[in-house]
Amino acid sequence: MLLALETSCDETAVSILDLEAFRTGHAAVDALRANVLATQAALHAPYGGVVPELAARTHTTNLPQLLQAVCDNANLKATDITACCVTSGPGLKGALLVAMNFAKGFSWSRSIPCIPVNHLEGHLWAAELERRDGAASEFLALLVSGGHTVLIQVEGFRRYRIIAETRDDAAGEAFDKIASIMELPYPGGPSLSKLAVDGDPQRFIFPRMMAGDPKSFSFSGLKTAALRKSEELRRNGSWDDPILRKDFAASVERAIVDSLLDKSLAAVKELQPKRFVISGGVAANRLLRREFEQQLSAQGVELLIPRPEFCTDNAAMIGVVGAMSLEHFGAEYFAEIPKDDARPRWPLTELSA
Ligand code: KG4
Ligand code: ZN
Repeated sequence: MLLALETSCDETAVSILDLEAFRTGHAAVDALRANVLATQAALHAPYGGVVPELAARTHTTNLPQLLQAVCDNANLKATDITACCVTSGPGLKGALLVAMNFAKGFSWSRSIPCIPVNHLEGHLWAAELERRDGAASEFLALLVSGGHTVLIQVEGFRRYRIIAETRDDAAGEAFDKIASIMELPYPGGPSLSKLAVDGDPQRFIFPRMMAGDPKSFSFSGLKTAALRKSEELRRNGSWDDPILRKDFAASVERAIVDSLLDKSLAAVKELQPKRFVISGGVAANRLLRREFEQQLSAQGVELLIPRPEFCTDNAAMIGVVGAMSLEHFGAEYFAEIPKDDARPRWPLTELSA
């Protein structure tokens, strides 16, 4: 039984994965014995963003309660746990340290392996929760979250090649910042997307990224254009028109999704993957899911997007990478308690097989 802990940002998450069922199962979700999460969204909402110190302090009170809850849900005792994995970065340092120190103490006191997990690698393999088969180990992945926008060619566990990365804001950050310009409630991405549902995406034409640079995403041009337009609309008194606001949101959402789609389709054309995986919080976006589904099926590429609860931060995906690490390196490799500190910055390119 593998315990997985995640406290890299504002969600405290804990899961228990049955390692035997993981090895033999069709989808990792079937091996998930329990999966719980405590969100701090409401706590940070008044500040319009995550307050690191508040996040860390709240993890310290949530974590022991969630551990009790997963054990109850799985009908297990803490002593039934035979390995522990924990997000060690990237993320907020103080927040990361809460689960890391917990994992170190727990593993040391029970003499069980303690496996550090990279949060981005968790998002990357979240689709394993839906399906595990041979073909799944080679794919093109778009990881779109609040902190990252990256297109990665995956050729197996720990065999990653970065195809394109954001030069400035991440896609989720663009959603959040423009939502804040529109004074929409935090977290901005889902609020903006909700407002966009029956808006006209053609009403405002916002810049897409430069088609000429296939190696990078960039959202700063869009953000500036949205800010300028909002100022102009405020000046001419039309900003409070509810129809206009819906159209504005729909046009922004369309521009972000188009930008992600353009770069992704160019990479698909070049690399000809059989499967495309999307993960990270922005993968919960309805328009993005629909557009990628349509465009990729027209190209004969299979699209796999985890269910929304596995796209946003969760401990199940951390458990998947913990279990894959155990399979790949063996339990002995993780016998010593890691000396590493939390790693606020930990690019995928620093992971080696
Ligand atoms: O992966 P995640 O939960 O946390 C990070 O590791 O960053 O991603 C959170 C991001 C936020 O920027 C949030 O606004 C965005 O995902 N997001 C969405 C939607 N749901 C979450 N953006 C657009 N549409 C959504 N439905
Ligand atoms: Zn994340």
